[in-house]
Amino acid sequence: MLIFNTQNELVSHLTSISNEATSIGFVPTMGALHEGHLSLLKEALLHNPVVVISIFVNPTQFNNADDLAKYPRTLEADVAKIKTVSDTIVVYAPSVDDIYEGKTVSEHFDFDGLEHQMEGQFRPGHFDGVGTIVKRLFEIVKPTNAYFGEKDFQQLQIVKKMVAKLKLPVKVIGCPIFREPNGLAMSSRNERLTTEERAEAAIIFKTLSEAKIRFHVQSAEEVTEFVTEIFQKTTPFELEYFTIADEETLLPCTTKNNTKKYRAFIAVFVNNVRLIDTISLN
Ligand code: PAF
Repeated sequence: MLIFNTQNELVSHLTSISNEATSIGFVPTMGALHEGHLSLLKEALLHNPVVVISIFVNPTQFNNADDLAKYPRTLEADVAKIKTVSDTIVVYAPSVDDIYEGKTVSEHFDFDGLEHQMEGQFRPGHFDGVGTIVKRLFEIVKPTNAYFGEKDFQQLQIVKKMVAKLKLPVKVIGCPIFREPNGLAMSSRNERLTTEERAEAAIIFKTLSEAKIRFHVQSAEEVTEFVTEIFQKTTPFELEYFTIADEETLLPCTTKNNTKKYRAFIAVFVNNVRLIDTISLN
């Protein structure tokens, strides 16, 4: 399996195989890979003769230094997991310097307001960091198709918006959330939970599923009250936000409109670990 640590090596490899690389599928990740990431790779392999995965913990998208320091870095285990999918996958695992070339700062983006909702409210600068790294990786890898998980639905919409606004030549494809048997959305952050916390975190998806049922007959406000009460009663879980929003604009739903698609979004702290999840409501 080919593993490159510098963009020069990666680009020269991709150039050397440009005849057979009729399309490049790309899966950007921050490592600590789980089944969800592997499902993105499998989807990419179905549709592209060449598949590239990047493994890079991007410092500019962390608004919390502790979160960045504690983010799991497990390159060797990640490579072993990628091999179980296919050893033809090309790995790009750069250093901060290789990406940022001595200037580790974000570009500023206007995502037509998508960046101000939910994660944007609680993680200032986060989406400028995501936009910066995804744009940079797209420039280096030049993918035909790029695959993102729907767990980070706001990120997916923001990347689609960036691609449309900057007219980048790549198709962004959203893929379904992978869940543990108890419903917990797979996330690299789950590795920081104790066995007990991981089991108890089933409450997040259970509550989202109940919210979906209620949304058929209740207002967004009533459903939000229900979810807030659940988390007030459930220690050690602390609700950061629960929002029902329009899937396209990400604006909160005030009055239901039958022509719109709605989605519930949640962020919860379990002790110091922050987990997010989402569910389509109609
Ligand atoms: O979703 C992630 O893992 C990251 O935000 C991404 C897209 C790899 C950018 O660093």
